[in-house]
Amino acid sequence: MDKVAIVDPDDLEKEALAAAAEARTLAALAEVRVRYVGRQSALKLALREVRDRDTGMTLNAVRETVESALSAREAELARAELEERLATERVDVTLPAKLLGPPKLRPRGTLHPSTLVRRDVEDIFLGLGYEIVDGREVETTRYNFDALGFPDWHPSRSPRDTLFLDEDTLLRTETSPAQIHKMEERRPPIYMISIGRVYRRDTIDATHFPIFHQFEGLAIDKGITLADLKGTLLYVMRQLYGAEREVRFRTHYFPFTEPSMEPDVSCFNCGGAGCPICKHSGWIEMGGSGMVDPYLYEFVGWGPEEYTGFAFGMGIERTAQLRYGISDLRSFWENDLRFLRQFR
Ligand code: DAH
Repeated sequence: MDKVAIVDPDDLEKEALAAAAEARTLAALAEVRVRYVGRQSALKLALREVRDRDTGMTLNAVRETVESALSAREAELARAELEERLATERVDVTLPAKLLGPPKLRPRGTLHPSTLVRRDVEDIFLGLGYEIVDGREVETTRYNFDALGFPDWHPSRSPRDTLFLDEDTLLRTETSPAQIHKMEERRPPIYMISIGRVYRRDTIDATHFPIFHQFEGLAIDKGITLADLKGTLLYVMRQLYGAEREVRFRTHYFPFTEPSMEPDVSCFNCGGAGCPICKHSGWIEMGGSGMVDPYLYEFVGWGPEEYTGFAFGMGIERTAQLRYGISDLRSFWENDLRFLRQFR
């Protein structure tokens, strides 16, 4: 009963309003609210004990004043805190991300030397009007050997030389089967190159690797001669190795060309005088080539006399070795960054 008397409504109101005004944060204000109008506050306890109407009205008026002061202060503090956060937590989205920010930008990779050569070869032949054709790495003996005129006794047909998947399916040993697929698909004029992986069952050493890349060319039209083959290869070799290069042919044998030739390019290092790169001969072997054997025309169902054409096949890694002076074939596959970073 006496508790009511302890509470002086005017003092209480003043004190509560002052405390609300002094609260600097929403958390502090929450404490003020508990203290003055919470369930255990002097005001609430007093209200519970009220017996007469006047005291009740006075105390209720105090409660209302204090509560509305608290609400007003709360709105004020909330707005202030929001403004504070907007000012301090502003994100400048145009700044570099923190993790990658300067000076540690994410490093740029480099292109593999095989890729560099492949792109150059593609550019050179696209400039000549050739189309780029994709072959298949898994071939049948029909396309890898039969269609290309490989005799039954040819050593490449042996599983000692070639990686077979089953009796008739193998990993192609050369890009030449792409020629047959194109010829089956379309009649001449055909001017195409095909670049990709080939597989041979070789033991790995500095000059052998069971996977490598070749680029294969085929041109079939009316009236194509060996002079066109030589002129084309001369142009390509000059693009790859420099304007002073010369090309010569040595006769050779391939089952799918007649006559067959191995083209040599004059040494880009010594200009033909003789040096270790050309083994002191002045010439560097480039691969295989020849005039398309009429057998291939018959195989795809054309007359043997209607068209003539030439074909050639060369190694991408070998080209890269010569261009960049890479002595060990294994470097192409080891992914050693100290090696790879040299090519840009
Ligand atoms: N396929 C031959 C090889 O891998 C290279 C070759 C020779 C391709 C003569 C040809 C060609 O297109 O006409 O050794």
